[in-house]
Amino acid sequence: MSAYRYPCRIIAHRGCGTLAPENTLAALRYGHAQGFGGVEFDVMLARGETPVLMHDDTLERTTSGSGALADSSAAELALLDAGSWRDARYKGEPVPTFEAAGKLCIELGIFANVEIKPYAPGGDAVAQQTGHLTALAARALWAGAAQQPLLSSFSGVALKSAMLAAPELQRAYLFDAVPPDWHQRLAALDCVALHCNAKNLTAELAAAVKRAGYGLMCWTVNDVAQGDALFAWGVDALCTDRLDLFKPA
Ligand code: G3P
Ligand code: MG
Repeated sequence: MSAYRYPCRIIAHRGCGTLAPENTLAALRYGHAQGFGGVEFDVMLARGETPVLMHDDTLERTTSGSGALADSSAAELALLDAGSWRDARYKGEPVPTFEAAGKLCIELGIFANVEIKPYAPGGDAVAQQTGHLTALAARALWAGAAQQPLLSSFSGVALKSAMLAAPELQRAYLFDAVPPDWHQRLAALDCVALHCNAKNLTAELAAAVKRAGYGLMCWTVNDVAQGDALFAWGVDALCTDRLDLFKPA
């Protein structure tokens, strides 16, 4: 297996970390304007049918709305203010559809790590549907594009569903703490990379992942010295909230 090659080493967490409202088009534009070429964002299903950018199961933390994400349609979410919670200058920034975010990434030439994040209360059925619809949408959006997205998820159910829907789209398995059977889990879902919480990575584990031929990304790295140490362990890319601390290239 040839190792997965990330197109950039610094990837903006949730679109642009803490510098712009997470998972919005404004976040994607902000990082791009600073010269960064890669983003991670979270995709959930609005009303079980339309992929949108959202991290939480509920709307309160990042929008002017309330209640469960799954109870709102994409059209209803587009009317919410998902920007003011971060800064008044982002007032009125909507919850974007995955379609709008994908098109913007392609237009700006930004690499996208698409985290498939199933609405947790929905269980396996929603995880399966989220993986399926996100993968099909990604295939259609990036059709013919030179730089394809990398799909990732904590959910094995969602990853398997994405693999069945669009096997050609590359996948990464997300772990907070990496389980002992990580290698079997990645192999079973034909993943090309492992993404883990930087707090739970060791030099030995990093070396084992790289020896096995997988790409390796860590989140959330908000300290340059920690980033340098991780790169020295062989980590390929970092996901950060602090684009202001890192250099783009
Ligand atoms: O994809 C890496 C990271 O985003 C996973 O954690 O909770 O920020 O989506 P979370
Ligand atoms: Mg994420």
